[in-house]
Amino acid sequence: MLAAIITCEESGMDELREKVAIITGAASGIGRAGALRFAEEGARLVLADLDAEAGEALAAGLRAAGRAAIFQRTDVAQAAQCEALVAAAVAHYGRLDCAFNNAGISDGPVPPGTADYPLELWDRMIAVNLSGVFYCLRYQLRAMLKTGGGSIVNTASIAGQVGLAGIPGYVAAKHGVVGLTRTVAVEYGARNIRCNAVAPGFIETPMTKSVFELQQFREMAAVTVPAARIGRAAEIADVAVWACSDRASYVNGAVLAADGGYLAR
Ligand SMILES: NC(=O)c1ccc[n+]([C@@H]2O[C@H](COP(=O)([O-])OP(=O)(O)OC[C@H]3O[C@@H](n4cnc5c(N)ncnc54)[C@H](O)[C@@H]3O)[C@@H](O)[C@H]2O)c1
Repeated sequence: MLAAIITCEESGMDELREKVAIITGAASGIGRAGALRFAEEGARLVLADLDAEAGEALAAGLRAAGRAAIFQRTDVAQAAQCEALVAAAVAHYGRLDCAFNNAGISDGPVPPGTADYPLELWDRMIAVNLSGVFYCLRYQLRAMLKTGGGSIVNTASIAGQVGLAGIPGYVAAKHGVVGLTRTVAVEYGARNIRCNAVAPGFIETPMTKSVFELQQFREMAAVTVPAARIGRAAEIADVAVWACSDRASYVNGAVLAADGGYLAR
């Protein structure tokens, strides 16, 4: 009996039981891994992404496995679409408890430096990686305030805490995500809303695959990452699940590094 209880509790399959969660960037990489982990923990999901084909397929797969999941095509860089996303969650499930604001883009081939960083790339980077998080927060907070609270995790990056050469737009946007996260934590903590960030290091996903496949990059990671390896999307999803769950009930405004120790050097 005791063994059964311990096994059940330790397996942690119910950390988000019945909680209604929005996950953005859910069609790929870290967001997709998040969708699988949130579903495994019993959450009812609203998946959002620009990629409707992959997003719809993921939601259908989860429903076929007996989980509650819908997909809503969303461009997080459009405030009205973020508002509609939250409205869809409330219309479908009646409430919103959790959000994993994870959608993001990378700079692609790295331009030489800030002096030559293309203006359009800067605007796009801020629109998706920073304004996209702000728009989601704006409407998620309104919904959560109506039902007495909630828990939010934003995907930042190691680039949200240190400067990295050649990617000023990405670095500035991710620093902004960290600032927004802390601000929301301070503003809404007393109203039972927690807001944290996860800061991934080098994680193998479709976004990074081409770079991380280079032997030269793997060798660099083996030297600069204390864990001596690149991370997996599921290792970030696990942090997001935990931070959203009641187990993290006193964790608010934290930037949770999941970088194999990169920033600890
Ligand atoms: N992979 C890494 O090493 C790493 C490291 C640090 C932070 N991150 C962050 O993690 C998050 C997820 O990245 P990933 O590596 O899983 O990348 P990914 O490219 O595999 O997934 C990103 C997803 O976001 C979606 N997306 C892009 N723009 C969007 C928009 N405007 N609206 C809605 N959805 C949009 C894409 O369609 C895609 O499905 C990003 O915020 C990224 O900056 C990644």
